[in-house]
Amino acid sequence: MKVTVVGAGAVGATCADNIARKELCQELVLLDIKEGIAEGKAQDMMQTATLLGFDTKITGSTNDYSKTANSDVVVITSGLPRKPGMTREELIGVNAGIVKGVCENILKYSPNAIIIVISNPMDTMTYLALQSTGLPKNRIIGMGGTLDSSRFKYQLSQHLGCSPSDLNAVVVGGHGDTTMIPLIRLATWNSTPVTNFLSAEQQEKIVKDTMVGGATLTALIGTSAWYAPGAAGAALVESILRDEKKLFTCCVYLDGEYGQKDICLGVPVTIGKNGWEKIIDFRLNETEQAAFNKSAEAVRSMNDVLKTL
Ligand code: 2OP
Repeated sequence: MKVTVVGAGAVGATCADNIARKELCQELVLLDIKEGIAEGKAQDMMQTATLLGFDTKITGSTNDYSKTANSDVVVITSGLPRKPGMTREELIGVNAGIVKGVCENILKYSPNAIIIVISNPMDTMTYLALQSTGLPKNRIIGMGGTLDSSRFKYQLSQHLGCSPSDLNAVVVGGHGDTTMIPLIRLATWNSTPVTNFLSAEQQEKIVKDTMVGGATLTALIGTSAWYAPGAAGAALVESILRDEKKLFTCCVYLDGEYGQKDICLGVPVTIGKNGWEKIIDFRLNETEQAAFNKSAEAVRSMNDVLKTL
C-alpha cells in the first residue's frame, strides 16, 4: 500500500507521522511545494523508525508528483492555515487554486486514489475537489467532522470526568465555527445519554466550546492546530487501508440524504476500502434538521464563491 500526504506543514507532517507509526502502508510520500521541507521532514521521521519501531518507508518530494505514482490514498493538507481572528472561510480564494492544482497533479499519477481533503474551508474544498476531478463521489472525503467529533468528545469528557474513549458523540454539518452541529441529544457515555448527567448550561457550554474548538487553539498557538487534525486524517486512512468500515462523520457529497443535494457536508458515514461507503441516517429531530439546513445554506453560499474565482 502507498499513501501520499500533500503539504508538509504541521498538519501534513503530523498526519504522515501517525500513518508511519501505525504502519498503515509500506510506502509513504510527503510532498510540498517549498524546496526541501518535505525531504527534510521525511528524513527526520525516518530517523525515528528504529526508535519507534516502524517499517514504513517515508520519502519527501519537492513538488515532483511522479514520486507519488500509484498511491492508494492521498491526503491533501495544502494551503494557507488560519491566523488568529481569521475564519476558515477567508482562505477560500488562495486555497481553491492550490487544491484544484494538487488534485490534477495527483490524478495524473494515481488515477485510482481515494482523496481525503483537510484544506480549509474544508466543505468547499471537498466540493471543489469533487467537481474539478469528476471522480466517483465515494472517493472524495472531507475530514472535518472526524476532527470536530473528537473535539466534542474531549469537551464532554472534561465535564463528565470520564475517558473520551468511553464516549460516542458526533458533530454533523459544516466544518465552520457557526456551521457545525454537535449532536448532544444523541451523545452517549457507554450507551447512556450524556444529557442525563449534564445541566442545560453545561450542555450549552460544551456545544459552544466544541464549535469554536479550532479558533480557540488558533488564538492560543498563533496558527491552526495540527495534532488532532493530523490524527483525524490518519484515522480515516487507517479505516480505508484496513477496510475497517468504521463510522466517522465526514464531509461527503449529498444527493438527497439529510434533505440536501449538490453539496458536500458532514454526515455519519462508514469508511472502508472504497472510500466512504454508506451514509447513515441518524434521524435528526426538527431542530437538528433545521440547523443542518442552515449549515447547508452557509456552505452553499461559500461554494458559490468558487464560481467567481
Ligand atoms: C481545525 O479546525 C485545521 O480546520 C482545522 O483545527
